[in-house]
Amino acid sequence: MLSTSELERVLAAAGLVAPVHFEEVTGSTNRTAWDLAVGGAPEWTLVAAGHQTAGRGRLDRTWEDVAETSLLFSVVLRPAFDPAYLGVLPLWAGGCMALAIRDVGGPDVRCKWPNDLVVGKRKLGGILCESVVQDERVRFAVVGIGVNLGAPPASVPLSEAVDADPVELLGTFLTRAAIGYDRLSSGAEGALGGAVAAWGAISATLGRTVRVERPGVPPLEGHAEGVDIHGSLIVLAPDGSHVAVSSGDVTHLR
Ligand code: BTN
Repeated sequence: MLSTSELERVLAAAGLVAPVHFEEVTGSTNRTAWDLAVGGAPEWTLVAAGHQTAGRGRLDRTWEDVAETSLLFSVVLRPAFDPAYLGVLPLWAGGCMALAIRDVGGPDVRCKWPNDLVVGKRKLGGILCESVVQDERVRFAVVGIGVNLGAPPASVPLSEAVDADPVELLGTFLTRAAIGYDRLSSGAEGALGGAVAAWGAISATLGRTVRVERPGVPPLEGHAEGVDIHGSLIVLAPDGSHVAVSSGDVTHLR
């Protein structure tokens, strides 16, 4: 069971020193982490909950959970890299969590661009990265992750769950994430490229025919060729051009 003392234990085991906040029931761990970050909370401040009443997803969606059968947490980061690389964060976090799920004996989880954790067509987790950029620097980023454990919400179609202990999974994620984060944060090209390549190796999207929906522009159908150093999805369009997509909704067609 998650608790304040377990959060402290797994954070320390990952070699990280930061405050932790645990609540059985909260609105949104991203919201709490955001407020703490605004107040100056240090990197790796960890916020977790047993249940969220106002869980948030990407593109203003909600994130539903079944109480006590989810891992729901957010961390505050203060990457020193150029804000142009913020798109790498969800890929890096998703890659770390997909591998952590496999490490604890879970299934062959893959990453759907940009922020979904999937098994086949079913989604079992998601990542929500929110950030503030000021004076051309990242003031802070909140990386929030939700993973269905045991039972997916009945109200969410095509959802999936993994059978894993939340404390063990969180600890495994933090240990993976802590390794190499400092180089990623510094904007080292090798570290950014490495995070993108690691994501690509377990991607469910690359190599597929996809439809990308973005607000204000017609849908784009094409071949998902790769991901660039900024985390954008590179789509080969029917006219032979390459389009770098930095945000949008992706459907796997074939
Ligand atoms: C998505 O799939 O659109 C992203 C879902 C992210 C959900 C997690 S649960 C923990 C953290 N707190 C939130 O309110 N959202 C993220």
